[in-house]
Amino acid sequence: MIDILERQEEEFKMERKVQGTVRMTVVAAMITALTIAMGLVPGIPMILIPVPIILQNIGVMFAGEVLGAKYGTLSVAVFLLLASLGFPVLSGGHGGAAVFVGPTGGYLVAWLLAPMVINLVKKFLPSKINSGWIGSLVSVWLGGAVFMDLFGAFWLSIFFHVPFVTAMVSSLMFIPGDTIKAILTALVAKRLKKIVHLR
Ligand code: BTN
Repeated sequence: MIDILERQEEEFKMERKVQGTVRMTVVAAMITALTIAMGLVPGIPMILIPVPIILQNIGVMFAGEVLGAKYGTLSVAVFLLLASLGFPVLSGGHGGAAVFVGPTGGYLVAWLLAPMVINLVKKFLPSKINSGWIGSLVSVWLGGAVFMDLFGAFWLSIFFHVPFVTAMVSSLMFIPGDTIKAILTALVAKRLKKIVHLR
């Protein structure tokens, strides 16, 4: 009798694990699709650096905040794989492996790392802040805006010989827009997690 109960408990646990994996994979695919859709909005060119203002990094922030480090990275990795294979998924319809060695390459590498950084920041936040909206905002802002913009600026100054100060100042000009994106992400992600029963 105890054996049967234990086996049933095991099967129940397994079923829940599979359901969780399927749910996370479906939401990861949806966020990849959202990132692609945001690429339909063309980027706005900046003055000093060849890096546009875009909407697609909202998808990356979303991936990190809604899906966590593992599935968030998976969602962004699929998107970047499509871009590297030449699918026109990047803003304004560009794509191809060359973008990774171009001036926006650093930002794209940061996109892949951002879900991990967002969730790393969460680990250092006090649990009281972490469980609320402010915790989401702080982690998305630090991992999905500040880290991304600084990493992209370093890349530009190292590989494209853009003076360090120019790269930094230009990249910091993304911060106001990226802060608005982080606020939107934190607000919508909270609701989405509730709707799809994530974490
Ligand atoms: C590309 O299309 O090749 C990538 C563009 C990267 C743009 C970066 S993402 C972070 C920062 N915020 C923006 O709005 N633009 C830059």
